[in-house]
Amino acid sequence: MLRLTLLTSLFVSSALAASADQWRNRSIYQARLLTDRFATPDGSSPPCDTSQRQYCGGTWQGIVKKLDYVQNMGFDAVWISPIVANVEGNTSYGEAYHGYWTQNINALNSHFGTADDLKALSSALHGRGMYLMVDVVVNHMAGTSDPPNFSAFQPFSSQSDFHPECFVVNYDNQTEVEQCWLGDKNVPLVDVNTEDSNIVSTMNSWVSTLVSNFSVDGVRIDTVKHVRKDFWPEFAKSSGVFTIGEVLHNETGYVSAYTQVIDSVLDYPTWFPLVAAFQTTGGNLSALATTVEQAQSSYKNGEFMSGSFLENHDQPRFQSLTQDNALIRNAMTWPFVQDGIPIMYYGQEQSYGGGADPANREALWLSGYVEDKPLVKDVQALNGARKAAISANSNYLTTAVKFLSTGSESTMAVSKPPMLALLTNGGSSSTPSWSIPNAGYQANEELVDVLTCNKLNADGNGGVSVQGSGGSPQVLMPTSSLNKSGGVCSGVATSGQASSARGWFGDSLQSLPVIAALLFAGWAAQSSLIIA
Ligand SMILES: *[C@@H]1O[C@H](CO)[C@@H](O)[C@H](O)[C@H]1NC(C)=O
Ligand SMILES: *[C@@H]1O[C@H](CO)[C@@H](O)[C@H](O)[C@H]1NC(C)=O
Ligand SMILES: *[C@@H]1O[C@H](CO)[C@@H](O)[C@H](O)[C@H]1NC(C)=O
Ligand SMILES: *[C@@H]1O[C@H](CO)[C@@H](O)[C@H](O)[C@H]1NC(C)=O
Ligand SMILES: *[C@@H]1O[C@H](CO)[C@@H](O)[C@H](O)[C@H]1NC(C)=O
Ligand SMILES: *[C@@H]1O[C@H](CO)[C@@H](O)[C@H](O)[C@H]1NC(C)=O
Ligand SMILES: *[C@@H]1O[C@H](CO)[C@@H](O)[C@H](O)[C@H]1NC(C)=O
Ligand SMILES: *[C@@H]1O[C@H](CO)[C@@H](O)[C@H](O)[C@H]1NC(C)=O
Repeated sequence: MLRLTLLTSLFVSSALAASADQWRNRSIYQARLLTDRFATPDGSSPPCDTSQRQYCGGTWQGIVKKLDYVQNMGFDAVWISPIVANVEGNTSYGEAYHGYWTQNINALNSHFGTADDLKALSSALHGRGMYLMVDVVVNHMAGTSDPPNFSAFQPFSSQSDFHPECFVVNYDNQTEVEQCWLGDKNVPLVDVNTEDSNIVSTMNSWVSTLVSNFSVDGVRIDTVKHVRKDFWPEFAKSSGVFTIGEVLHNETGYVSAYTQVIDSVLDYPTWFPLVAAFQTTGGNLSALATTVEQAQSSYKNGEFMSGSFLENHDQPRFQSLTQDNALIRNAMTWPFVQDGIPIMYYGQEQSYGGGADPANREALWLSGYVEDKPLVKDVQALNGARKAAISANSNYLTTAVKFLSTGSESTMAVSKPPMLALLTNGGSSSTPSWSIPNAGYQANEELVDVLTCNKLNADGNGGVSVQGSGGSPQVLMPTSSLNKSGGVCSGVATSGQASSARGWFGDSLQSLPVIAALLFAGWAAQSSLIIA
């Protein structure tokens, strides 16, 4: 039931729409967890010095034990780091705790548990109505010497199964990007010959059995731009589930081509201006809006299916770039009020502030998983608001965000009815104001900021004029779109049942099943890990 065949654009069918829909109303807690860093199976809290780049003790059974923590934040999917057997022992760049140094695609990484443990994680998630996303690497396998010991790789164990050695230097030469190697002579990421038809069919049947063995609901694909584009449609189809790919590039024009060959991409082109917009006061908010508009018009499914994120395991954590709490809260709000699938990297909610890899892979158990914290509460409210918006407006998920004029360069208004997100990069000492004559609400409609549950009213023309404080973001929803009997700001909600008619469009709207968030468990490195 959770898994539907998901076909790529080359194989359009109704099944595609179904699977796309199933994922788009989720929110991925990038619990995007690095399995090694999320939770220990016995609840212990061993020390974990990220700079040592060693295994710290997190496992799949550990994740099972901490699913309440994930679900309480409103997430309903977990993205875990790669599961397959990796390089063993220490290297110049430490151990393969992140899971991205494949040696054998048909064996599991025993540091994380057994096949039964992974199946237990999958069942535990499904028992909660949550999805499991697994990270896979096709582009390369990892060696520990130069030349690498080809016979250590399985099932591709001869030199001819790989492209000849050359390291990627010129990222403007796409052939080089696809056929030369990532990594370096210490830990070469030996480039699999994905032009070879036997290798292609082995990879396709591998992903199919991986998905069925562990009842996987979605696949995150590493280093997608490093494999020829026409490899991907058949691979994605073979997986039988939703695919989201990492295409690390800052231009929508480059990334959009990949939205034609897999279901979805992690929205890196928007991530760059997002970080720039909020890491200092005076960042350029228009540049962020412009990039989103480019993605809306150039990605195959607009921004709807893309993974919207502020942090991941390859980039310095946002809270290493600024300590201004208001800027942090505004930036964190972004992925949840956008068109894409919200993805949150584990630890952000606990104010982790590690810099570049490996500092950004902190052990979450060292935080104590405290839930009574302001950022955790923001995340709960944001997931709750998104869920309510989907429930209130049956077109919510297919309505593209619009940027409304606010009258100020340090504020922005992101409209996705019935939600209106008011953001600012003025910083903690600022007193932002938003003046939005055409907010689209009903005359004098009662609204609530879900981050505070404070009420306000639209003006006589449905416009909104708000004076904020402390540089905080506000996420407005009509009180009539919230559920009195539960969920975000239920204390001020004026609706009895989420399925009843809403103030927003006046018509009776079908309630959609639950939304969610994807939890990304464990990611770790890929190319940038050892290139950096
Ligand atoms: C792993 O190898 C690196 C590089 O040689 C070294 O600096 C580090 O101390 C080693 N770590 C352990 C735990 O052996
Ligand atoms: C290469 O890998 C094979 C298979 O694991 C192993 O038997 C052999 O000892 C390795 N050779 C070297 C030089 O490490
Ligand atoms: C691009 O890279 C390929 C593979 O390394 C190489 O054969 C080719 O000459 C390069 N093209 C240009 C224009 O440099
Ligand atoms: C799936 O399970 C079968 C049977 O145990 C096994 O042969 C195969 O290697 C597994 N595939 C993966 C990708 O785990
Ligand atoms: C992407 O990055 C390159 C290299 O830093 C830069 O020249 C280019 O202007 C950037 N493109 C955008 C859209 O920011
Ligand atoms: C902000 O970005 C917009 C759109 O990319 C650009 O036109 C404008 O010049 C930028 N403003 C500043 C101050 O750099
Ligand atoms: C409203 O909240 C209650 C309590 O959490 C829940 O049982 C009910 O399903 C919600 N209604 C809708 C339509 O979401
Ligand atoms: C997601 O929304 C679609 C409609 O867009 C709906 O058919 C589907 O059942 C929903 N799935 C979940 C899990 O809410």
